[in-house]
Amino acid sequence: MVSQAAGSNSLLLDRQGATVTVTINRPAKLNALNPRVMTELGNVLDTLEEDPSVHVLVLTGAGNRAFVAGADIERLSKMDTAEIVDHMTFGHQLFLRIAEYPKPTIAMVNGYALGGGFELALSCDLLVASDKAVFGFPEINLNTMPGWGGTQLASKKMGPNRAMEMVFTGAHYPAGRCLEFGFINLLVPADQLKQATLGLARTLAEKNPFALKMAKSALRLANELPLSAGMRYETLAYATNFGSPHTQEGFRAFLDRSRR
Ligand code: COA
Repeated sequence: MVSQAAGSNSLLLDRQGATVTVTINRPAKLNALNPRVMTELGNVLDTLEEDPSVHVLVLTGAGNRAFVAGADIERLSKMDTAEIVDHMTFGHQLFLRIAEYPKPTIAMVNGYALGGGFELALSCDLLVASDKAVFGFPEINLNTMPGWGGTQLASKKMGPNRAMEMVFTGAHYPAGRCLEFGFINLLVPADQLKQATLGLARTLAEKNPFALKMAKSALRLANELPLSAGMRYETLAYATNFGSPHTQEGFRAFLDRSRR
């Protein structure tokens, strides 16, 4: 079932079981992110967060050329400094929201993931790329730099050395080359991208959502906390999950199986 997000044609929603795929739908502009798309994406995240029957979110771009080719350069070029501060803050809030989303998120990268598009993909928990995908931070070629978290997200996801290379050169990196950088979980032929991504999503959707939520919160904090504090947080997350009935159910199911 494909539907349009309420009051918009910028986003398409497609639900399969407990997985919702959100497609950024501006193929004529290679799905470049403008304020409208970003606002609608934020609204959709709110709606899907509240729906307990949705367990996993997949983000992708419409058409076969681009995931997202970056921030909308035409819009950027018309902004003054005050507007840019707001626009960058807006992007940070949106991408942080995705990074901290209480359900697993998967970027399904079908083509160009450049600048803000790469930042969006790196905000997701997992990344499945087609062999036609191309990644890069071309901002330096526009005499600017990543501004929606790219310097931070790239350093955390692939280490500072690779991140610096990508930001400094502004080059396009084919997905095959990026595999060794560590931010791609799965690289598949283009015609298998959807099937592979939804297969991964289905695996996650079958897990207990609260256990996943607690695990994600601890994993995300590993980037921010010293080891000792991270381990203390992990204890709290573990105990919070342990107190829920599903944990005992999980243990009991295992024990019943092994006693048989
Ligand atoms: N913002 C606004 N429009 C964009 C865009 C962006 N980031 N990326 C692509 N588009 C638009 C193009 O202007 C063009 O629109 P038009 O047909 O109305 O002229 C359309 O999308 C198709 O792009 P085009 O450049 O013609 O395709 P291409 O195959 O020649 O090149 C790219 C593809 C991705 C290499 C090229 O579009 C590009 O470099 N885009 C900008 C990437 C970038 O710098 N991103 C960071 C932004 S801060």
